[in-house]
Amino acid sequence: MKTRITLVNVAHDLLAERLQPGDIAIDATVGNGYDTLFLAEQVGETGKVFGFDIQHAALQAAQEKCQQANLQDRVSLIQASHADMAKHIPEAQHGYISAIMFNLGYLPGGDKTVITQTDSTLSALTAAIRLLSPRGLITLLAYPGHQGGDQETEQVSRWCEQLDNRQFNFDTHYSNTDSVSAPRLFVISKLN
Ligand SMILES: C[S@@+](CC[C@H](N)C(=O)[O-])C[C@H]1O[C@@H](n2cnc3c(N)ncnc32)[C@H](O)[C@@H]1O
Repeated sequence: MKTRITLVNVAHDLLAERLQPGDIAIDATVGNGYDTLFLAEQVGETGKVFGFDIQHAALQAAQEKCQQANLQDRVSLIQASHADMAKHIPEAQHGYISAIMFNLGYLPGGDKTVITQTDSTLSALTAAIRLLSPRGLITLLAYPGHQGGDQETEQVSRWCEQLDNRQFNFDTHYSNTDSVSAPRLFVISKLN
């Protein structure tokens, strides 16, 4: 648990450096809404956050968090797969998204059988790099420690490695432990 928090913090620090008031960001896996709320704080009053999750319970929890913080006006929560994110983002905003966050796996405290799947995760990443603005950032936290998660992490890693390095920079951050099942953070930034 400690390592997960550390990598979430690494992702938040990188995103906080990159995001400016007025920016548009996407939370591709809303879950309980902690990352959605974080993004909403970073983009400020004039910014916008689109959040995706396939579970109604997740979106409800996130909606409550945003309302408590009075940030709901800058957040649009959409019950859909992140693989379809491009359909839900207005076309005028394609190519203008400053940050896209993924936090894979299952909803903490929720149904552990509803987890992200390799195929839709890779489709979502393909959509995400097209939506990204120049200097835009994608962070993806992957968990090889649960069933299916090791294969998903491996495939995400391979997908990142085949990115054109003239257009994208790619880094992997490892947990502070030797375990092969420890979470991993992938960071992709668009160069221009
Ligand atoms: C680890 S949780 C996300 C945690 C969240 N970012 C937070 O701050 O609380 C992963 C979430 O991904 C969601 N999910 C699974 N498959 C998905 C898909 N295809 N598209 C969007 N969300 C998906 C799950 O329902 C779950 O809520």
